[in-house]
Amino acid sequence: MNAKEEMDKIAKEILTCTRCELYIHRKKAVPGMGALNSKIVLVGEAPGREEDESGFPFVGRGGKILEASLGELGVKRSDVYITNVVKCRPPKNRRPKSIEVLSCLPYLEKEVLLINPTVIVLLGATAATYLYDESLPLTKLPRAKKLEKIRGIPGQTKIQGRSFTAVATYHPAAVLRNKKLKTKFLEDLKLALDLARFSCSSV
Ligand code: URA
Repeated sequence: MNAKEEMDKIAKEILTCTRCELYIHRKKAVPGMGALNSKIVLVGEAPGREEDESGFPFVGRGGKILEASLGELGVKRSDVYITNVVKCRPPKNRRPKSIEVLSCLPYLEKEVLLINPTVIVLLGATAATYLYDESLPLTKLPRAKKLEKIRGIPGQTKIQGRSFTAVATYHPAAVLRNKKLKTKFLEDLKLALDLARFSCSSV
């Protein structure tokens, strides 16, 4: 099976998944999307309303700011792979429960292992909470404080015994709410791109 066929198989599993209760209310499950040979995988929290309706990740307002920010750094969204920790929309966009995240993580693991990126970008506190393996004792900090401490500092994500460089940053929705975060958000994305020695011609 080639990479596209393997990713199509993962997407098929996601689209018919009933591992947690989120499938009950979803319109569409939302697999990741983008370049399968990307050196960067960006991971958000969970689909929102537009994503649930369209079946594609980050197509709403958060997606627009993410796309524009990547654009400012010379990267097209189709150059990278974008996905979420949880593939179905939580009701009223509530934060996903641990049981939902843990049920869904095997899909993200499969996506990441197939793409084999150099850097994983963790967009927001949910992705950072579940995927940033820190060596500093930060786990007791509240989510937002923890994100503020680790953002912009390269860390690790461990998946099935393999280590990937991870850069945590704000969720695009937070940048929409607070425009002052945009500069740091861009810095963090640039750091991730630099770490991946990203160049559009190499993807
Ligand atoms: N927020 C996310 O975390 N992911 C999406 O796909 C859309 C909004």
